[in-house]
Amino acid sequence: MSGTRDPRLKEIVDALVEHCHAFLKQERLTDAEFEQGLAFLRAVGQACNERHNEVVLLADVLGFSTLVALLNSADASGRTPGALLGPFYRGGSPEYANGQCIACEDSTGAPLFVHARVLDTSGRPVPNATVDVWQASPVGLYENQDESQPEHNLRGRFRTAEDGAFNFRSVRPAGYPVPVDGPVGVLLAAQERHPYRPAHLHFAIFAEGHATLVSQVFADDSDHLDSDVVFGVNRRLVGKFEHHEAGSGPHSEQRDVYYTLDFDFILAEGTPTFPTPPIQ
Ligand SMILES: [Fe+2]
Repeated sequence: MSGTRDPRLKEIVDALVEHCHAFLKQERLTDAEFEQGLAFLRAVGQACNERHNEVVLLADVLGFSTLVALLNSADASGRTPGALLGPFYRGGSPEYANGQCIACEDSTGAPLFVHARVLDTSGRPVPNATVDVWQASPVGLYENQDESQPEHNLRGRFRTAEDGAFNFRSVRPAGYPVPVDGPVGVLLAAQERHPYRPAHLHFAIFAEGHATLVSQVFADDSDHLDSDVVFGVNRRLVGKFEHHEAGSGPHSEQRDVYYTLDFDFILAEGTPTFPTPPIQ
């Protein structure tokens, strides 16, 4: 690496090589094991296409993505912790006005009304922030995994109002297994781990003068909160999915059981960055 001009690249690759050599010395891989490892990485790459990103999935199930998200958002500012972007962020979501519904008209599942605010670390509202939302369906599939959902279903982009608020209507997402039909599924089976994530909504919040927040909000009544396969759950990211009977509560016009979620996101000062969508 002595000829590497970029100092940060030099530092990163130096450390990577050093740690990988330490791993090889510790584990003393046989030739066959080394070949098996290389074949696994090859299979991970080959399992990727425009609609699926097995590399991101591998980083997620090994806890790499959560560790990076936490290291980049854990400070004393009081900001909302980050959570992994995951393999299902597409970007380019349809823009909606506050109050609109991100679920297609014939969506089944319990209605969910989300009322959220974006605040700074002093509690002041952050107006005009852009908020990307994406979630799985009530059967636990993202639209890109599911022929029966229209393009960009359950994905939307909102803008916060003067009081920092954004709100929308959707349907309750289900928890879901991460895709297990590729090499990551083989790994999880060998580890004897379940592939499930608790029910959650994804958010990416971009605002001038603030560090971008990529995070998730988990349903407090969901299974697998303590064993999320990608380690994304954090106590501060568990939201109260309030259950309401038909005809009662803040949306008493509802004729079926429905849920509400109120959640405040706190952004730290900084410069916005924009994650690269893992799929198109
Ligand atoms: Fe997800």
